[in-house]
Amino acid sequence: MSLLEIDNVTLRFGGVTAVNKVSFSVEEGEVFALVGPNGAGKSTLFNLISRFYDPVEGDIRFAGESILQRAPHEMAGLGIARTFQNIELFEQATVLQNLLVGRHRHRKGNLVSELAFTPFVRQEERRHREAVEKVIDFLDLQAYREKHIAGLPYGVRKVVEMGRALAIEPRLLLLDEPASGLSVEETLDVAFWIEDIKREMGITVLMVEHDMHLVSSVSDRVLALADGKALALGSAFEVQNDPKVIEAYIGVSDQEKRAVA
Ligand SMILES: Nc1ncnc2c1ncn2[C@@H]1O[C@H](COP(=O)(O)OP(=O)(O)O)[C@@H](O)[C@H]1O
Ligand SMILES: [Mg+2]
Repeated sequence: MSLLEIDNVTLRFGGVTAVNKVSFSVEEGEVFALVGPNGAGKSTLFNLISRFYDPVEGDIRFAGESILQRAPHEMAGLGIARTFQNIELFEQATVLQNLLVGRHRHRKGNLVSELAFTPFVRQEERRHREAVEKVIDFLDLQAYREKHIAGLPYGVRKVVEMGRALAIEPRLLLLDEPASGLSVEETLDVAFWIEDIKREMGITVLMVEHDMHLVSSVSDRVLALADGKALALGSAFEVQNDPKVIEAYIGVSDQEKRAVA
């Protein structure tokens, strides 16, 4: 059984079919990348998987069960965590506080025990802290743990967002353009982290990314989309050399052509 199954999914915005009968499966333990020109439907697919949108047709299954009846706030509890193309963090809170928010689904105490601050709650709190400290070590965020998000450089905020998703200890991690806006050096860090997230943490990764160098270096399989439709599925090399994919990039900006070259 695949961990995530997208089964003939369609979503329209008015006259635009943002996702058009798309099917693919992500296997447990793999890094799977979605690529394609701007407007291809990649972020919309992420928003469908995160349950922000309801498809007009098709099904989305996670670990064998349809998630279409689930609400967005239930995703973390199921084991699905994500980052956003435009970073979404609590700006006025510290890095540590933002990562602890990611742990919310693990809170087991009820209000009474939290008010009484029972030993159980203290023990839970310690568990949350330990999980978050592990993420801080893993992503090398020690220097920033007490810093407010609002004052941090873009590259660091991106890492914190990945950290907040990892703090959930998900089975499936959705990364929307993890390298966009990052320097070459920062992008290399992201590549190493994705490798470790897969190998050491055993987390399955589904990512959207324009940087084909990053996609080639970390992905097991790649699906190219254009105009809401799936065009080609295979290794990064196979997909980049697929005539349908090459054609989809003709007529788009030079920057995007370079992104797929
Ligand atoms: N909330 C929305 N309302 C209306 N149209 C949208 C919305 N989100 C995306 N679209 C449209 O759906 C298509 C796919 O967009 P998107 O999924 O963001 O593409 P990508 O992430 O691949 O660049 C585009 O034509 C976009 O303009
Ligand atoms: Mg997008």
